[in-house]
Amino acid sequence: MTEQVSCRNQLIQGDAFSILSGFPDEIFDLGITSPPYNKQEKNNGRLVSKVIYADFKDKLPEEDYQSKQVEVLDEIYRVTKDGGSFFYNHKTRWVNGEMFHPMDWLRKTKWVIRQEIIWDRTIAGNIRGWRFWQVEERIYWLYKPVNDNKKGTELESKDAKMTSIWRAVPEAQNPHPAPFPIWLPARIILSLLPRKTEALVFDPYVGSGTTAVAAKLLGFDYVGIDISQEYLDYAKNRLVNCEDDREKIEKECRLHVVKKTSSQRKSERIYTPKVTKTADSLF
Ligand SMILES: C[S@@+](CC[C@H](N)C(=O)[O-])C[C@H]1O[C@@H](n2cnc3c(N)ncnc32)[C@H](O)[C@@H]1O
Repeated sequence: MTEQVSCRNQLIQGDAFSILSGFPDEIFDLGITSPPYNKQEKNNGRLVSKVIYADFKDKLPEEDYQSKQVEVLDEIYRVTKDGGSFFYNHKTRWVNGEMFHPMDWLRKTKWVIRQEIIWDRTIAGNIRGWRFWQVEERIYWLYKPVNDNKKGTELESKDAKMTSIWRAVPEAQNPHPAPFPIWLPARIILSLLPRKTEALVFDPYVGSGTTAVAAKLLGFDYVGIDISQEYLDYAKNRLVNCEDDREKIEKECRLHVVKKTSSQRKSERIYTPKVTKTADSLF
């Protein structure tokens, strides 16, 4: 389909679902997002401060929250090209002792759930004894099949070797209350779009613009949506000064190389465990 998006390289203020509803079918190649988590704006830990957003309350009855997420995810499916992917960062949560898992609503969407990736943040401020210290979040790789082929195409070895556990501390130098670190969208873009094309990357909850900055620095066009003009103003400024994030992106790029093929490693009997540090070793 000929792309009709006049919003190429734009950040748009508004509700994600309403804005997406105005887009034609199948225009995006890749999406990456972290929606609000419906954390009820409670202060759940001794060390952690509340995540308070500028322009909306992250506080819905859980049932409403989940059905809205299904609605948005299905709209995202519509605007994504066949063979396109959407990466959805979320986490398991507990409300009054009841656990809610992102799979509770992801299975109700049209997407093929291609992978669950663990983001081991190695640290989190929220230490309470109700359960073991939760330092991980999840990233769901959602896939829109071409002609019912749910397997899709393979990643290149330089990217597939990343493993399904991504270990890195959260972003600290960003005034947004819940940004993801820039290596995260960079890793996804580098892995899913390994050859430079005209691909369009989008984030329907773009916040401080992290996905857009990563796309721009890697040579792709982007579209971002957020309800908050305040965050979009910050994101626009970040895009103008995107070279400030260049070194972080290059650090991620340096990981996407194969130094030795698996057959070379096998013949040289090289075995390197992927896990080198755990949160326990921080104490
Ligand atoms: C977890 S944050 C995303 C942060 C982003 N990944 C970053 O790195 O800065 C979620 C964002 O969703 C936005 N938001 C909340 N409700 C929204 C809605 N209905 N439509 C669009 N954006 C919304 C918030 O303003 C917030 O910036």
